[in-house]
Amino acid sequence: MMKINRIKRRGWLNVALIASGLFALSQFGFANGFDTGVANKCKECHEKEVTNFTGDNTHFRAWGSRTDGKSYSCESCHGSGEKHMKDKSVESIIGFSAEKQSKRPAAERSAQCLTCHSTTSKELMFWTQGIHNRNDVSCASCHTMHGGSDKMKPSSETCFKCHKDVKSQVGKFSHHPIIEGKVGCNDCHNPHGTTGASNIRGDNVNQLCYKCHTDKRGPYLNGHAPVEENCMTCHKAHGSQHAMLLVERQPALCQNCHADAGHPSNPYDRRTKFGNNSPAGTPPYPTTVTAPLNGALVVSARLVGRGCTNCHGMIHGSNTPGTSGAYFVR
Ligand code: HEC
Ligand code: HEC
Ligand code: HEC
Ligand code: HEC
Ligand code: HEC
Ligand code: HEC
Ligand code: HEC
Ligand code: HEC
Ligand code: HEC
Ligand code: HEC
Repeated sequence: MMKINRIKRRGWLNVALIASGLFALSQFGFANGFDTGVANKCKECHEKEVTNFTGDNTHFRAWGSRTDGKSYSCESCHGSGEKHMKDKSVESIIGFSAEKQSKRPAAERSAQCLTCHSTTSKELMFWTQGIHNRNDVSCASCHTMHGGSDKMKPSSETCFKCHKDVKSQVGKFSHHPIIEGKVGCNDCHNPHGTTGASNIRGDNVNQLCYKCHTDKRGPYLNGHAPVEENCMTCHKAHGSQHAMLLVERQPALCQNCHADAGHPSNPYDRRTKFGNNSPAGTPPYPTTVTAPLNGALVVSARLVGRGCTNCHGMIHGSNTPGTSGAYFVR
């Protein structure tokens, strides 16, 4: 009787699929692969978890649309409930709460998911070696399984639960538009693990940055060595109190390496050719200068409140031939 019903339904499903694939999937798909018999038994004691495992739930829909004769249920993730239904204990069932399941290692809980989401998938390839797995973070630390499909995808908020320091970084004056929702943690990190440091999506930091900031990739006729080496020498990844995500303000940023430029490296030194009116004297030089005629402060207008990149604007590299290109002036 059951069998005939199934075949009938499947035949009808095929017709419906031809008519409208999407409609068929969302409306009738669940009848096939999802074993509602098991769910009904659990429902006696776990009504909430059963009702929120229907409708728009990704697994419920995916399994329901299966027509391969295989059966999926609550037990696909929680393991057999036979003993548990009798003793009603936490030990007899695989749960995902880190506190209640403290005796069950995180890796064992994750293994439930990996039976299907094999670690040979591109995204999950380095899960086992990954820093989260090694630190007892399980799939369910980030992914919610009960509820609609919108709940399946972890957001930045999910990450902030544990990475509070990053939350404070992205709230700084200059930041990647993460809270604004234009860039997500997942765009730059593979939370499932990578072989390199910090779970970065790219062979190294620069390769990651080039993905979105393609203009910085070059190659340039005149490259700036630290730029080609590592963007992080001058920039913060998440946020900074200095404009343009800089690690430090100019000119200090540049002076870390250019203490002895051909022109004096400190433009705020009035004895340099950057001041309009260099005073005589020996160091330390005054930081402000009074003009001899009207008493006004004189500082090169090009330098007020600005930095080295006011002139060296092509700081990431230049394609202009000659000295101006070599000095990143144009
Ligand atoms: C007769 C009642 C009953 C039935 C039927 C039942 N459970 Fe439970 N289940 C419980 C009780 C009671 C707890 C809470 C144990 C505790 O917190 O001490 C529980 C806890 C759980 C937990 C939480 C474990 C954790 O670590 O947080 C899961 C998961 C679970 N049940 C799954 C199932 C599944 C799946 C089924 C159906 C196969 C099922 N239960 C059937 C009574 C039941
Ligand atoms: C019995 C097999 C099976 C098990 C067990 C399973 N999944 Fe899935 N999962 C699927 C299928 C099938 C889909 C539908 C999408 C697909 O084909 O990848 C899916 C979808 C997902 C998605 C959404 C992917 C997307 O692109 O939107 C996530 C996230 C996910 N599963 C995580 C988990 C986690 C976490 C666990 C363990 C708590 C788990 N799954 C257990 C089979 C399974
Ligand atoms: C540290 C948090 C975190 C952990 C732990 C985690 N995930 Fe994810 N997972 C994510 C994020 C973030 C996404 C991307 C969601 C999106 O598309 O916006 C994702 C996406 C996925 C997807 C869809 C991938 C695709 O191909 O598009 C699957 C499937 C998945 N995770 C399964 C798992 C499984 C299985 C585990 C445990 C072995 C796990 N995840 C552990 C955060 C996590
Ligand atoms: C795809 C894997 C998966 C399936 C299938 C699944 N669950 Fe869960 N279940 C989880 C995860 C992960 C959690 C932890 C909370 C969450 O992610 O929503 C959980 C939590 C629970 C809890 C404990 C709630 C708590 O916070 O203590 C119960 C009870 C439960 N599930 C019962 C069921 C029942 C009954 C079914 C069948 C209708 C079912 N689950 C199907 C993965 C699954
Ligand atoms: C624009 C790309 C980008 C985005 C978006 C991003 N990160 Fe990062 N993150 C990086 C880079 C690059 C590093 C490595 C920094 C280094 O090597 O100095 C890093 C490092 C980290 C680290 C380790 C070291 C540290 O600085 O604390 C954590 C944890 C981290 N990110 C979490 C997050 C979280 C959580 C989010 C989302 C709220 C996020 N990241 C968003 C690029 C990004
Ligand atoms: C349940 C807590 C938890 C959640 C949720 C979580 N993480 Fe982590 N994460 C950790 C722990 C623990 C480490 C190990 C290193 C440490 O202690 O910072 C880690 C490490 C990392 C690192 C590597 C840091 C390094 O120094 O190499 C990155 C990057 C990272 N997480 C990103 C994320 C992103 C992105 C998300 C959200 C998708 C996320 N994490 C969600 C707990 C968590
Ligand atoms: C996933 C895409 C993406 C990646 C990867 C990325 N960025 Fe960005 N970046 C953005 C977006 C979007 C903005 C904001 C642009 C805007 O608002 O016009 C931005 C802005 C910036 C800014 C200007 C910030 C400001 O205050 O105006 C700097 C500097 C920057 N990124 C550096 C980096 C560095 C360094 C890396 C590599 C660690 C990187 N970005 C990786 C997308 C990305
Ligand atoms: C030697 C220090 C230094 C290094 C290394 C560096 N930058 Fe910058 N970057 C700056 C400075 C300084 C500014 C601000 C320029 C200004 O204010 O005119 C800036 C601004 C930016 C901006 C925003 C303005 C724009 O030009 O689009 C982006 C995006 C950016 N950098 C990306 C990168 C990337 C990607 C890398 C690595 C390939 C990198 N930077 C390496 C110094 C550096
Ligand atoms: C981490 C060290 C470092 C930082 C920080 C740095 N530079 Fe450089 N810069 C170099 C190196 C190395 C060269 C190549 C020098 C050479 O080839 O002799 C270079 C070359 C230059 C040149 C080309 C002139 C020449 O001698 O080849 C200019 C101009 C320059 N940098 C300006 C700046 C400015 C402006 C800043 C700040 C926004 C800055 N640099 C930050 C290391 C740095
Ligand atoms: C008013 C414009 C201007 C400002 C501001 C400026 N420079 Fe220059 N800089 C130049 C020009 C023009 C040259 C090329 C000089 C030449 O042709 O001899 C140059 C040359 C250089 C050189 C290469 C020449 C050498 O002798 O090493 C370095 C390095 C340099 N500047 C670093 C800096 C740093 C660091 C700052 C900020 C502290 C800075 N500059 C501020 C205009 C400026």
